[in-house]
Amino acid sequence: MKENSVLRVENLTHSYKEGKKEKLVIENLSFEMEKGEIISVIGKSGCGKSTMLKIIAGFLTPTSGRIIVNGEEHKKPTKNVMYLQQNYEQLFAWRNVLKNIAFSIEQLKLSKEETKKRAEYYAKLVELEDYMDAFPNTLSGGQKQRVAFARALAVEPDLILMDEPFAALDASTRDNLQESTKRIIKEKKQTVLFVSHNIKEAQYMGDRMLIFGKDEKGGFKYYFIDKPQEYDKDKIKDLL
Ligand SMILES: Nc1ncnc2c1ncn2[C@@H]1O[C@H](COP(=O)(O)OP(=O)(O)O)[C@@H](O)[C@H]1O
Ligand SMILES: [Mg+2]
Repeated sequence: MKENSVLRVENLTHSYKEGKKEKLVIENLSFEMEKGEIISVIGKSGCGKSTMLKIIAGFLTPTSGRIIVNGEEHKKPTKNVMYLQQNYEQLFAWRNVLKNIAFSIEQLKLSKEETKKRAEYYAKLVELEDYMDAFPNTLSGGQKQRVAFARALAVEPDLILMDEPFAALDASTRDNLQESTKRIIKEKKQTVLFVSHNIKEAQYMGDRMLIFGKDEKGGFKYYFIDKPQEYDKDKIKDLL
């Protein structure tokens, strides 16, 4: 086990029931993450990326294998692991930006002043200090995504899971958010598992890349690449 291990995925296997049959989606996946590390995850649509995140988040019980977060088995959702969904329609329409960010902090049972101070700090960190009173329906997609990110960061969790967070955004907003999100993650030494189906995005975001790929016989195979930025995009494509 690594010294600074935040996440350990041990021999993870998952099948869904399909009528009377079982559909194998993840087979014997193991890896470990250190504090402050970003692993980007890439794979074809339907290959099991979201399933893996839901299991790590504790929303779904795996067929076999274990998830260890900071030395303890993680079996149900906790504030130690924040899950950012694929779409950004996850904000509370009736709460303004500051109150949306404060929502996650409220679980920590800090004083009112501390909660507000922390929510303001994270609103500033994602560059939304001018929008703290705004309601979600008045925000752009990119701004909503920033609020959702700030809300996850504000808990200061062990791990943040991001599931194709920028997939629905236009190209220039996406580029912007990739840059600022990576900068903030590194500044806060936050540990992040970042799922994408865009190879370029995954190359940019990850310190390491986990590829949900196939072996010669078409079976499940998981590849890990260090410094994916320096790797040839077509070589990654060949592994999928
Ligand atoms: N609740 C479910 N019940 C049955 N099959 C599911 C369920 N969720 C996902 N699947 C199937 O499992 C496979 C992996 O899905 P998913 O993890 O969402 O893939 P990805 O996120 O990589 O696109 C897909 O074939 C999908 O149809
Ligand atoms: Mg998915």
